[in-house]
Amino acid sequence: MEAKVAKLINEQINKELYSAYLYLDFSIFYEAQGLDGFANWYMIQAQEERDHAMLFLKFLQNNGEKVTLGLVEKPDKKLETLMDPLEFGLEHERYVTSLINDIYAAAYDVKDFRTMQFLDWFVKEQLEEEKNADDMIKKMELFGNDSKGLYSLDSEYAARIYTAPSLVL
Ligand code: FEO
Repeated sequence: MEAKVAKLINEQINKELYSAYLYLDFSIFYEAQGLDGFANWYMIQAQEERDHAMLFLKFLQNNGEKVTLGLVEKPDKKLETLMDPLEFGLEHERYVTSLINDIYAAAYDVKDFRTMQFLDWFVKEQLEEEKNADDMIKKMELFGNDSKGLYSLDSEYAARIYTAPSLVL
């Protein structure tokens, strides 16, 4: 594998672990507010992000590349309102999309079709991630200002269950 591509994928392991850490922080915030459903949603999201990290890690290993783990940054978002995690979440997923696109572009430049094919799953996944984050903001705007609406949103998010990623390496 081209060194630049391998380096970006190795860095992506760290970014995905940071995402898991960030969403764990969101989960802790909502749990403290008594919103167990929102807390559940982000706890599962954190698990998904860990899965993403493992997929990047396994892909490097399968290609005989060295994996080097670095420090995972502390979640630094200041969470004050019930809307804050949702907005930070969308902003963060857009950033992650840009990172996936950068790896894709690096792979494209060197005709690394294998990595491009691997990344196709993430390109699709990012569409879903951004859509979910955007939907949560819209629903909070529509229903979050009254207690019944908030209760019902919390119940909806309480029903989310973890499913393993459809991509298996
Ligand atoms: Fe790993 Fe939320 O993208």
